[in-house]
Amino acid sequence: MNVEIKNLKHKFQQAIDEVNDFIKLEEVYQLFFGRKSGELTEIMKNLKELSGEARKEMGKLINEVKTELEDIYSKKKVALQAESWKNIATTEAIDVTQPKIPATEVGHMHPITQIQQQIEQFFISMGFMIVDGPELESDYYNFTALNMPPDHPARDMQDTFYIKGHGDWVMRTQTSPVQVRAMQDYGVPLRMLVPGRVFRNEATDARHEHTFYQVEGMVVDRNITFGDMKGTLEALAKHLYGEETKMRLRPKLYPFVEPGVNGEVTCYLCKGDGCRVCKQTGWLEIFGAGMVHPEVLKAGGVDPEEFGGFAFGLGLNRLVMLKYGIEDIRHFMSGDMRFLGQF
Ligand code: PHE
Repeated sequence: MNVEIKNLKHKFQQAIDEVNDFIKLEEVYQLFFGRKSGELTEIMKNLKELSGEARKEMGKLINEVKTELEDIYSKKKVALQAESWKNIATTEAIDVTQPKIPATEVGHMHPITQIQQQIEQFFISMGFMIVDGPELESDYYNFTALNMPPDHPARDMQDTFYIKGHGDWVMRTQTSPVQVRAMQDYGVPLRMLVPGRVFRNEATDARHEHTFYQVEGMVVDRNITFGDMKGTLEALAKHLYGEETKMRLRPKLYPFVEPGVNGEVTCYLCKGDGCRVCKQTGWLEIFGAGMVHPEVLKAGGVDPEEFGGFAFGLGLNRLVMLKYGIEDIRHFMSGDMRFLGQF
């Protein structure tokens, strides 16, 4: 029996060495440890026949061998495990050992689009609809319909790009032509907002760009007052710059409104004390506005005796420049990621 036991280890090792998968491993294990007829089990059963000192010694020996076999078994199991991981790593389509690919950079909205959407959301909440208009516009809608007939001196303020050989087409200098288009298309009462790109024939510098963005707003209804305009714009100013913001309106000529105003808000940075952003004035000029001129209502097919309204226009580039302290308007169109990545 003694020899048999000592042989067992050798036999088991041999059997295990031939194993190369988990199923075979379990089969070999059962051959030795199996409850019914495993070789080791059988030897242990025979132990009952011995007695006294002999039984004790034999028991000890069997236990030692059993531990050794179990050791051989678990070492093989670990080796098979390692082997199978290696196979997965070399045969699978996904190479788990490959270094991480850096995540593609996630982009974001252009700062002008961000402020445009912020303003849109605000006016949508007040029941305005968002309207679009053409960038290539007729001279009529861009100027004449806005109470600026040919030879009107106010046209000089907004020189633009004229489309050669196509009659009266111009790149729109403002979003205001959509005032008339919207009255014609949708009728009145009307509450609308027009975000869009506009163009001017400028000698570009840090403060002037040939292409920039505006948001136009217009309300036409019965009994619209200057107070409605002021309240609406004040609400916008507070929405953009905080509850404590104050607004002031000063007369300014825009031929398509009467009276026309230039709107300023207290500087969000110094709260009116005077600083770098507001050029020491305490005020920031952010919009033009006024009561819609009767001639403009008429051009839109609206009876100025029955209806009235107000309109306003904001320059989006300027709003973003003020907000972030951007010193050169030309950054917006540069496509320079060092600039755009900051927002
Ligand atoms: N369209 C004007 C501009 O570009 C702004 C404006 C819009 C003024 C509406 C009054 C009313 O300067």
